[in-house]
Amino acid sequence: MTTTHTITVEPLGREVECREDQSILDACLRSGVWLPHSCTHGTCATCKAEVLDGEVDHGAASSFALMDYERDEGKLLPCVACPRSDVVIEADLDVDESIPVHPVEDYTGTVVELSEIARDTVRLVVELDREIGFNAGQYLKFQVPARDGMPAVDRTWSIASPPTEPRRLEFHIRNVPGGRGTDGWVFCGLSAGDTVAVSGPYGRFVLKTDDDRPAILVGGGTGLAPLKSMIRHALEDGASAGHLTLYQGARSREWLYDVEFFRSLAARYPDRFTYRPCLSEETAEDCGADAGAYGFGLVTDVIAADHPTLSGCVGYLCGPPPMVEAALKTLMSRRLFPRDIHREDFFNEGDKASGGVRSPLIKR
Ligand SMILES: Cc1cc2nc3c(=O)[nH]c(=O)nc-3n(C[C@H](O)[C@H](O)[C@H](O)COP(=O)(O)OP(=O)(O)OC[C@H]3O[C@@H](n4cnc5c(N)ncnc54)[C@H](O)[C@@H]3O)c2cc1C
Ligand code: FES
Repeated sequence: MTTTHTITVEPLGREVECREDQSILDACLRSGVWLPHSCTHGTCATCKAEVLDGEVDHGAASSFALMDYERDEGKLLPCVACPRSDVVIEADLDVDESIPVHPVEDYTGTVVELSEIARDTVRLVVELDREIGFNAGQYLKFQVPARDGMPAVDRTWSIASPPTEPRRLEFHIRNVPGGRGTDGWVFCGLSAGDTVAVSGPYGRFVLKTDDDRPAILVGGGTGLAPLKSMIRHALEDGASAGHLTLYQGARSREWLYDVEFFRSLAARYPDRFTYRPCLSEETAEDCGADAGAYGFGLVTDVIAADHPTLSGCVGYLCGPPPMVEAALKTLMSRRLFPRDIHREDFFNEGDKASGGVRSPLIKR
């Protein structure tokens, strides 16, 4: 039997039981004790906390997210650290009372749709064995099965459907050449009818439904997924939010997807939603009669041209880390404060090896 230890989370004084092969974050989230986190794989440093007492194994913490001197000072990344004794940690809790906490649980899902929607991109729809509670913008972990002598691994994909559809969940997944979860599984053998093991919900990149300021949502590639959940939740479910403007960035039209869906939402909710698909490697001439439907250039250039100022707005940025970083700079140059910018970087295992830590000033 695996040894279990007690984790005390200060300043709450809450105690949770954690197995030696379980991360401290996982034990806390499953017990309904919220700790800040974003990537859950030791790359972003969002969860960094302090060990006040006890021993931990730092697991797969990136040496960029948790430097050697920080380990010596008693810091840890609870998303990958496992206990080796009873442990007391102190976390920067910064709890947003307006966001419900849904404890993490395990679910079994059945793949009901797996279809190509753009170049190297699929829509995966999974029917869970029971309902899951989550906030618009959160994600699930999928267990990628062991294969060719390699052990099972977890991969994280954002939920693209709204919380009002608690059993049938949609995901958008981009193939990453050489990637275990995509190239080696979703794009290589997974098919309708298969069973998948998932857990969740995770993440704090969620639509703030107590904030009615206009929102600029920027999604690069499959970074659209959590934004689609937020937009559908606000428009179709009537969740409170200000005017939403979606910037969807892609190189060319073959990489864009759900264009008709968002166009029809914009037509249905003209006072609440604006849709701006942007193409960085195609021109107005390439698009001919359809040119008026797109912005041309990098999504950041289109935003900058559209808005001399964004003062009084909030931002939600999601996708590949370089795009998120560039969009952050653009929004800040248009007078958005860091505290009003929320971001989700789609860090992968390569980012863990090469570093991927963001400014601690920025909301995740
Ligand atoms: C919060 C969050 C939400 C996300 N949501 C989505 C989503 O909705 N849709 C989506 O498409 N993606 C999403 N991602 C990204 C996703 O989790 C995966 O990282 C992505 O799908 C690639 O997974 P993979 O297993 O195929 O690739 P990985 O196995 O992670 O490999 C990625 C790349 O890194 C290289 N690599 C692997 N290991 C190493 C190493 N040790 N050193 C150097 N290079 C290495 C691989 O060769 C490959 O090129 C999200 C990420 C996060 C953090
Ligand atoms: S959530 Fe722990 S490092 Fe990202």
